[in-house]
Amino acid sequence: MPKRLVNKNILLGVTGGIAAYKSADLARRLREAGACVRVVMTQKAKEFITPLTMQAVSGNPVHDDLFDLQAEAAMGHIELARWADAILVAPATADFIARLRQGEANDLLTTLCLAASAPIALAPAMNQAMWKNTATQENVQAVQDKGVKMFGPDAGEQACGDVGYGRMLEPLELVKQLSELFETKMLTGVNVLMTAGPTQEAIDPVRYISNASSGKMGYALAQALTEAGAKVTLISGPVSQRTPEHVTRINVISAKEMYASVMNHVHDNDIFIGVAAVADYRCKTISSQKIAKTSEELQLVLERNPDIVASVAQLDKKPFVIGFAAETENLISHARAKLFRKKLDMIIANQVGGTETGIGSDENAVTVLWCEQQQEFKRMSKQKLARELVSLIAECYKIKNDELRCLSA
Ligand SMILES: Cc1cc2nc3c(=O)[nH]c(=O)nc-3n(C[C@H](O)[C@H](O)[C@H](O)COP(=O)(O)O)c2cc1C
Repeated sequence: MPKRLVNKNILLGVTGGIAAYKSADLARRLREAGACVRVVMTQKAKEFITPLTMQAVSGNPVHDDLFDLQAEAAMGHIELARWADAILVAPATADFIARLRQGEANDLLTTLCLAASAPIALAPAMNQAMWKNTATQENVQAVQDKGVKMFGPDAGEQACGDVGYGRMLEPLELVKQLSELFETKMLTGVNVLMTAGPTQEAIDPVRYISNASSGKMGYALAQALTEAGAKVTLISGPVSQRTPEHVTRINVISAKEMYASVMNHVHDNDIFIGVAAVADYRCKTISSQKIAKTSEELQLVLERNPDIVASVAQLDKKPFVIGFAAETENLISHARAKLFRKKLDMIIANQVGGTETGIGSDENAVTVLWCEQQQEFKRMSKQKLARELVSLIAECYKIKNDELRCLSA
């Protein structure tokens, strides 16, 4: 099973059909695939399976009421819609599909579907005659036209004894199809080299200078890039992040090592993204022995490290170069100055210091600048942000490539 669902927030909607008994297994399978699952049940769904069961298998409280005062105080319906990376309604009744088509918001699940920007997938489950009915088929077509994905239904023997199309797909098949939803193929055939994490600059054999970079943003980007079909090589400073599936990881410690590794690999790549928080300075001399605590003051002499992203941007045959700018003040003007000074194709500006976003946190808010343009990405999880950034990167990379092709034609 591909690991596309690792760390994905999946909102599992359960509606009132016989197949709801399979939703418990589905929630379990989604968690096995690495997803974080929150369940929303319609009132009718609770006739078929209990919220307690769904709570136990999903590991999270079940949501079932649009007018739940407590929920609205904490994770309200809009928050829940924002939280979701994808919504899967399984089973989806004929009635639910009809309500979705009409854009109704008469219960929590329909309201969430209206409020969410995440992809929505339905796993229809109903009697074969209900499925074949023109009304249902028109509703299915109409929601598909609005971008809703349809997983199944399957054909076979039904709970009522009929045989035909209308059976809900098996949980494992639903997990597979849902994971495929995250494979966008926008960067298929594109080689990406990137850096992530901090660097460590040795002072003596046991001490070093470093920074608070956790590598979370870089690793989320690496994952989103492979989901988009790119072949990713990740040169990483020391972090405790899990390497995403299909990513080739090269571990380095210092800025000098990172620079050497980047220069060694960059020629085979179409895009370079410098996400690492590379130390600007290193110790001029590294003590071969542990420095003893003998004097009241200790002075370290530092010298400049190579600027990796600027060096890549200066290459004759340079890839599409993207830098990150972590700034504590004048974010946009500093980032735009860096974009032009270092001759980058794109810069991702990140406010750091005294905010709940950026270095070390699970969320981030950035502004992306390229040419004379800019686009703001409001605060969201680093995983979600990574996917949105990859869409923009793929779009800009394609435009630049088409321009170069026109020039050389
Ligand atoms: C025993 C029983 C089984 C049902 N099974 C299904 C079903 O498999 N699919 C379906 O579309 N509706 C089924 N229904 C009808 C739905 O429960 C009904 O349309 C309900 O209003 C759906 O509400 P909901 O979509 O808000 O959950 C069934 C009803 C009963 C009484």
